[in-house]
Amino acid sequence: MNFAELWNSLISIGRTGGGYTRHTWTPADLECRQWFIEQARSRDLDVVVDRNGNIWAWWGGPGKGAIVTGSHLDSVPDGGAFDGPLGVVSGLAAVDLLRERDATPRVPLAVAVFVEEEGARFGLACLGSKLLTGVVDPGRARGLTDDNGVTYADAMRAAGLDPAGIGPDEKLLGHIGAFVELHIEQGRALEPLGAPIGLAEGIWPHGRWRFDFAGRADHAGTARFADRRDPMLPYAATVLAAREAAGAHGALATFGKVIAEPGGVNGVPGAVHAWLDARAPAEERLADTVTTVRSIASRVSAEHGVTVGVRQESATPAVLFDQALTDRVKGVLGGVPVLPTGAGHDAGVLAARVPTAMVFVRNPTGVSHSPEEHAEMADCEAGVRALAAVLEELACK
Ligand code: GLV
Ligand code: MN
Ligand code: MN
Repeated sequence: MNFAELWNSLISIGRTGGGYTRHTWTPADLECRQWFIEQARSRDLDVVVDRNGNIWAWWGGPGKGAIVTGSHLDSVPDGGAFDGPLGVVSGLAAVDLLRERDATPRVPLAVAVFVEEEGARFGLACLGSKLLTGVVDPGRARGLTDDNGVTYADAMRAAGLDPAGIGPDEKLLGHIGAFVELHIEQGRALEPLGAPIGLAEGIWPHGRWRFDFAGRADHAGTARFADRRDPMLPYAATVLAAREAAGAHGALATFGKVIAEPGGVNGVPGAVHAWLDARAPAEERLADTVTTVRSIASRVSAEHGVTVGVRQESATPAVLFDQALTDRVKGVLGGVPVLPTGAGHDAGVLAARVPTAMVFVRNPTGVSHSPEEHAEMADCEAGVRALAAVLEELACK
C-alpha cells in the first residue's frame, strides 16, 4: 500500500466539517486506534497495548535496543489532519518501504501511538508518554476530568482498558534504543528555505495554566456598573496582559479556551474559567511572562471585586534533542535544516530518557491546530523516504 492509500484509509475518521476532533477515548479516537491495530496486524506486526494505553506495533520484539518511531492520533478541537497522524502513517509506510527493499532489522523496530498527546480532553499534554516515563503521578492522571466531569479513569475504563495499571514502565522504556518522531512542521521555516524535510533541534519550555475568575452573576439590564462584580473584565485585562508580557519577553502566550458561567447573553457572568498556554525560548522568560500575567490578573480582579485562582495544569521543560542521534540522522538525510520549535511532542518527553530525534515535513503555510493545516503529498512521501532511510540506518546497519 502506498502512502496516499494508507493516508486515505484514515482521513474520514473523526472529521468534523473541515477539521478533525479526535479526543482521547472518544469514539473517533477509538476508531483511529482500531484502524492502527488493523493496519499493524495486516503487516504482521505484533500489536501490544501497554499499561498506559499507548499502542506498539513491533517488527521483531519487544526487545533491547529497539528503534521506535511513531506519534499520536488524538487531536485538538477541530484540528488539522496531519498533526500526529502524519507520524503514525509515515511509520507504517516506512515499514512497507523497508520490506520492499528487503531490509532486515538487526534490532526490534516499532511504530508507536501515544495517548492524549494534545491534552485536549483532560488538560495534560503528552499524557501517554508522561505516564510511561513516570513524570506524571498515576493517581493525578486517574483523577483528571474533562469538561463534562468525566474522569480519566472512567473514560479509560469505558474504552475497555484498566486505569489501575497506568504508570511508569521501566521495562518497556529499557527496550528503546532510540526514538525518532516524524511530524508535520508547525511553523513556516522550511518553506522559505526550499526544504521539504527538516530536523528538530529542541523544544521551547511550555505549559498551561487555568485561571478561575469568580464574581457575581447579575442582570445585564439592571445591575449598575458600580455594583457589578464582573469576572469578564479582569479576564479581558489578563488576555491583553498576556499578549504584552509575552511580547516583552520574546515568548508566546495564548488564551484559546474560555468558559463563562452561566453563559447567558443577558447576564453578567458569575465565573469565567480560562486557560493560558505560554511558551518561551528559555525557562526564565517563560516564568517571567507567567508571573507578570498572574500578578496583573490578581490586581485587576481585586479592582473589580473578583477573586482569581490560578493553577498550572501542564508543564513541559525545555528539551534539547540528542546531538549524536540528530547528527547521525542529518548524515543520512544530507544536511537538512535543524530547527527549534515551540510545539510540544511525545518525542520531547521521551528525550529525557532515551536518545531521541525529530524529523519535520514542510508545512507551506505554517498553520497548525487548524483545519487549514496542510502538507503536500509529495512532501509527505519525501518524509516517508527520509524516515525509512533513518530507520534503516539505525535498525538495519
Ligand atoms: C501540541 O501540539 C502542543 O504543542 O500543544
Ligand atoms: Mn498538536
Ligand atoms: Mn503533534
